[in-house]
Amino acid sequence: MPTDRVLHLLGSAAEPVLGVRAAVGLARARGWDVCLGLTPTAADWLRDDLDALAEATGHPVKSRFRRPGDREPWPAADAVLVAPATFNTLNCWALGITGNWVVGHAAEAIGKGVPLVAVPRVNGALTAHPQYGRSLATLREAGVELLPNADGLPADGPGADGLAPPPSGAGAAGFPWAAALAAVERAGPRGRREGNRWDSGR
Ligand SMILES: Cc1cc2nc3c(=O)[nH]c(=O)nc-3n(C[C@H](O)[C@H](O)[C@H](O)COP(=O)(O)O)c2cc1C
Repeated sequence: MPTDRVLHLLGSAAEPVLGVRAAVGLARARGWDVCLGLTPTAADWLRDDLDALAEATGHPVKSRFRRPGDREPWPAADAVLVAPATFNTLNCWALGITGNWVVGHAAEAIGKGVPLVAVPRVNGALTAHPQYGRSLATLREAGVELLPNADGLPADGPGADGLAPPPSGAGAAGFPWAAALAAVERAGPRGRREGNRWDSGR
């Protein structure tokens, strides 16, 4: 579908990222030109699908900083969606620790005033960590719209540490992609001013 609205979809390494292909299709069907960025771990999980994802979006999948002198391959964003957002990515983003490209891009988007939505996917054990609440408060204060946590794992019991493989792929299918896109669309017009379009050189 032809569109002039550009969505930078940034995924980190929680299991729903395995369903990002469907999310790309959904976003395109809603009229978004989608550019997909993945944290290094998420890109590793999806390593066999990266070519297909690039083909599905029509843009290279980005997971690392470009080399000096390389041109920026993506069009500027009208909105950025960070989903799924891990405990690690949310904390790094809030603290400004831009050790990977996705966090750096999301951090710059705050400074550029690009409409930002994030969908945390963090289990109950990790949400109890003292930094987590602080990170969410920092991101909210910076203008990031945070959707409810899409934790698909129990707060205790097997897999409760959020690091163990969840059973049989549960979680990817139930991720609230449509709600996330609806939030992005509500956020979009607010910040979509020419001076706010993000033309990062990264
Ligand atoms: C199978 C599996 C599922 C995971 N699910 C989650 C999750 O839902 N949420 C989370 O915060 N971390 C989860 N993790 C841990 C993250 O992948 C890990 O913290 C990683 O360092 C996150 O890196 P990133 O934020 O750069 O993608 C999971 C790890 C594995 C192996």
